Amino acid sequence: MFNSIVKDKNYKNLFNGDWVTSNNTIDIISPVDNSLVGTIPAMSKDEANIVIQNSKASQKNWANMAISSRAEVLHKAAALLDENVDYLSQLMQVEIAKDKHSCIAEIKRTADFIRFTADAGKHLEGETIGADNFPGFKKNKISFVTKVPVGVVLAISPFNYPINLSASKIAPALIGGNSVILKPSTQGAISALHLVAIFHEAGVPHGVINTITGRGCEIGDYLVTHNDIDFINFTGSTQVGKHIAVIAGMVPMIMELGGKDAAIVLCDADIESAGRDIVTGAFSYSGQRCTAVKRVLVINDVADSLIYELMKNIKLLKIGNPEDDCDITPLIDNKAADYVQELIDDALGHGATLLCGNKRNANLFYPTLFDNVTTDMRLAWEEPFGPLLPVIRVKNIKEAIDIANRSVYGLQTSVYTKNIDDAFNIANKLEVGTVQINNKPERGPDHFPFSGTKSSGMGTQGIRYSIEAMTRLKSTVLLINP
Ligand code: NAP
Ligand code: G3H
Repeated sequence: MFNSIVKDKNYKNLFNGDWVTSNNTIDIISPVDNSLVGTIPAMSKDEANIVIQNSKASQKNWANMAISSRAEVLHKAAALLDENVDYLSQLMQVEIAKDKHSCIAEIKRTADFIRFTADAGKHLEGETIGADNFPGFKKNKISFVTKVPVGVVLAISPFNYPINLSASKIAPALIGGNSVILKPSTQGAISALHLVAIFHEAGVPHGVINTITGRGCEIGDYLVTHNDIDFINFTGSTQVGKHIAVIAGMVPMIMELGGKDAAIVLCDADIESAGRDIVTGAFSYSGQRCTAVKRVLVINDVADSLIYELMKNIKLLKIGNPEDDCDITPLIDNKAADYVQELIDDALGHGATLLCGNKRNANLFYPTLFDNVTTDMRLAWEEPFGPLLPVIRVKNIKEAIDIANRSVYGLQTSVYTKNIDDAFNIANKLEVGTVQINNKPERGPDHFPFSGTKSSGMGTQGIRYSIEAMTRLKSTVLLINP
């Protein structure tokens, strides 16, 4: 199945059912050992335009196919994904340096996601509304409200979940009757192309799923401003997301962007369990998750005991290569590691207390914990996207809420406490998409709504919510003559 997508390590794009090359290519280098994983096509704008026209032309037939038939195709894709877990996991380990355990979990989770989406699609229902519900109208008018596809969906995914955050756009778009163009992150594109090969093999008709690879900075603006793109489903950095939102014009979109998720730890929390949970939340996949714990706001009275637990658990983290299933693996590139270093240096310069880490071997960064971080430090506000955790000591709950809400981001916040009243009162005041009580921030399970406020995004992901976003209501009104 994967033989057709590559020749001599040169990967191809899927266009109208065929795997095609472009004149220019981009080398994909492994963050683990700098080896060449393969090359991907750098598609030109003219080629991209042909792809978009093909996606547009192919969509209508797919939309006319029964939802139950579309669901069957998705079920087949999910089964194929399950069959290829080992192969895909090895590829991801090399391409994005994600640990083996997390790669396998991502692929299995994605198969479940696709199956759940196929079944959720079968419950896509419209409604009828009588006119007489509104004052002054009689029973002689009925609106038949149905859900129809938006058209061509441009799915843009980030490097950190190349399979899952591509499929979480593709599957809901397909079940809704749309055609999809996937523009994967350049690093991660090879894994994403394999996912698309699976949808193709499962029977998604020619042109209903196409791919465009190429650097976002070169081809991205052209894609997001193209007249025949009907929906943009983007996950990535706030910087790129805001740029797209400004230039794309009147196109509906979902934007899942960055975060600075706080873990608020109250005096009555189970400190041992909170410490364990926060370390997993902050350091899994080396902190390269939008939902990673990116700051701890702890009431001063319990700060020392929490730090003891954090240190205890950080010492248990395995550091090294993805294939050895290490928790801390090399960051996606040296630039990412340089940025982590910048935030560390700024914190040190402003008097934060380094408890462990600040050690680096090229792009492999050791888990780093700071105490006494204050709000004049960049580390209190910026998203490191690396294994770096600041502890900010606060006097009371009010100060914790204040610092949590002063962030430009609003993705998730965790509250650790045994007092359910405090938990809900704090949750009510937090300006985020999701509040987790006694649990680390996380997106799943994938049928929950997932969204961010402020600079963390707009629109809502989550299986039913994604399908609803990528379908629109269409009303046909019947006037019944007396
Ligand atoms: P990124 O640099 O913003 O890239 C995301 C995607 O946008 C990539 O496919 C990229 O392509 C593309 N892109 C770049 N410039 C573009 C343009 N002008 N027009 C259209 N597309 C363009 O993000 P990343 O480094 O992959 O991911 C890390 C960031 O994503 C973090 O900030 C993280 O918090 C956020 N994230 C958020 C969520 C969430 O659900 N909230 C989930 C995952 C990640 P190239 O790779 O070719 O540049
Ligand atoms: O990186 C951002 C992802 O949406 C986070 O997903 O919470 O399942 O790791 P996760």
